[in-house]
Amino acid sequence: MPAQQDNAAQIAYWNDRAAVTWTAFQERLDTLFEPLTAYALTAAAPAAGDHIVDIGCGCGATVLALAERAGPAGRVSGFDISEPMAARARERIEAAGLTNATVTVSDASVHAFPPGSADLLFSRFGVMFFADPVAAFANLHGAMRSGGRLLCAAWRPLADNSWFKVPMDAARALLSPQPPTDPSAPGPFAFADADRTHRIFQDAGWRNVTLTRQDVPMRFAAAGQIEQATEFAMRVGMLAGALAEEGPEVRARVQDAVATALQAHDTPAGIVLTGSVWLIAAQA
Ligand SMILES: C[S@@+](CC[C@H](N)C(=O)[O-])C[C@H]1O[C@@H](n2cnc3c(N)ncnc32)[C@H](O)[C@@H]1O
Repeated sequence: MPAQQDNAAQIAYWNDRAAVTWTAFQERLDTLFEPLTAYALTAAAPAAGDHIVDIGCGCGATVLALAERAGPAGRVSGFDISEPMAARARERIEAAGLTNATVTVSDASVHAFPPGSADLLFSRFGVMFFADPVAAFANLHGAMRSGGRLLCAAWRPLADNSWFKVPMDAARALLSPQPPTDPSAPGPFAFADADRTHRIFQDAGWRNVTLTRQDVPMRFAAAGQIEQATEFAMRVGMLAGALAEEGPEVRARVQDAVATALQAHDTPAGIVLTGSVWLIAAQA
């Protein structure tokens, strides 16, 4: 796989611990992201006959959805650096009997895309991990036909994302001190700052860049299923990373604290928190 040297840590991460979690929880994550996916697909407006590139396509949920919309005259090319997640995506493409979708394991920031061939560049949370985002989006721009569209979903700031924040706040005092993080470093919040994100896309050559806030319900589990919701909160999202180096005693105390915090979000519709996302749109 051609790889930009600085993306090496992300390539290692998405082929190791993260791949285990994302493949194990694939169905639950896809259900969790359903409301956001519907908004993102509506905004992207994939059309029959489009050639669509799905960046950081992971286990393939959006490849399947886009391929259905592109139809037999169109095609979807998914790209991801994670071998296990790409393997899951390919299994699902085959199981769905789709002949217009492929997944390639490659670092999208440096992949040699056929120039000028894509009508739509789409991503659900797959573009916040580039070491050099301007260079990466300039490379992706080269894949687009003139006037082609981009629609990427990326997380807004932590303060507006209770699904990350509530479990993390409940656990914080029980965790080993966390090193300060650079908000612009590759990771889920790399595009949270609207001004910086706007500049990245403009500097990479994209036109008519807009960021639209979309808040979405994040349903961790059915009503009353605190144990299931707590396990989920400890395995995905920010808290999972923070817990990676902690022992069983700390984990047990965190489990109790997170369960208590989630009780406040137990509603008749389920244990529901909020996700807040930028829908980033632009034209090549
Ligand atoms: C948060 S996951 C999202 C996966 C999928 N889009 C979804 O919504 O289920 C981020 C994905 O981006 C991929 N990724 C990170 N850096 C990448 C890169 N440089 N090129 C291609 N994929 C990348 C990861 O391997 C991972 O599958």
